[in-house]
Amino acid sequence: MSSIRAVAPAKINLSLRVRSLRPDGYHEITTVFHAVSLADEVTVSAAAAGVGRIVTTVGDRTASVPGGDDNIAGRAAVALARHAGLPDPDVTIDIAKAIPVAAGMAGGSADAAAALVALRRLWNLDVSDAVLSEIGAQLGSDVPFSLMGGTARGIGRGEVLTPVLTDGELHWVVALSDAELSTPAVYAEWDRLLADGLVSAAGDAADADAPLLAALRQGDPREVARHLVNDLEPAAASLRPHLRGVLDAGSELGALAGMVSGSGPTCVFLAEGREAAIALAAEMSGTGLVRGVRHAVGPASGARIVA
Ligand code: C5P
Repeated sequence: MSSIRAVAPAKINLSLRVRSLRPDGYHEITTVFHAVSLADEVTVSAAAAGVGRIVTTVGDRTASVPGGDDNIAGRAAVALARHAGLPDPDVTIDIAKAIPVAAGMAGGSADAAAALVALRRLWNLDVSDAVLSEIGAQLGSDVPFSLMGGTARGIGRGEVLTPVLTDGELHWVVALSDAELSTPAVYAEWDRLLADGLVSAAGDAADADAPLLAALRQGDPREVARHLVNDLEPAAASLRPHLRGVLDAGSELGALAGMVSGSGPTCVFLAEGREAAIALAAEMSGTGLVRGVRHAVGPASGARIVA
């Protein structure tokens, strides 16, 4: 087959607790990842000898997305080929983005994950899902979850995963921001706030997320809403103060809960169900505080081949 297409989902962190800065520059976190129905589509094809990795991206605000090996999907192609003992590959990787760029929803990780599953098929490699996940973890902390999808606990820098049992669907309103935020900048701001005593590090209580996990098992969005937490939210809002207004607007408009997604600046709001989410999306859009809104449903599948 000359061309393979795969999709991979955006993620929300239902819980993100930052514990400590590690010697390697990453932060030790405990998190609950949740994949939602915004997805990027990645098509891989063999290219002429000597061209290397050609990565193109189409979609909203993709001008800042790099090409070639500066794109995480290009790096994924090299990493997978090297693992398989192949020379650096000649391949085109065409990305259609629906996941907002630099927005805290793991769009780059999704592209790497989709590229990995598509290239494994294109090259007919006998590489297990577990090994693909290890290769993914070298590329980015969130890539293993983009491969897995669903809902999962993450520890370490977020790459060590355990699936979480859930019932039913959660309906989200995703509020897009005009700004972008880089993940390292938000973690660095968290370090600064910690040094100034304005945030505190999460303890090592293994059961801090037990009420959230119980609510997910019950499939009760009201109960889930009570236990959403994102330790990076103060850091994201410190760098982008307008996010506070977006979060306030969501709660005034009746969201069950609202939070910054991952390192932001996207904000996500949980609704009671589909109709409530669609109504909330329309009202959020009318506030003029956000660049756009999306309705997203979780949990969604991890990276998978579609054609
Ligand atoms: O793993 P990834 O490449 O996505 O991480 C990007 C950056 O985000 C890291 O270089 C680090 O600065 C920060 N980060 C972190 N702790 C994590 C994940 C990411 O400090 N658990």
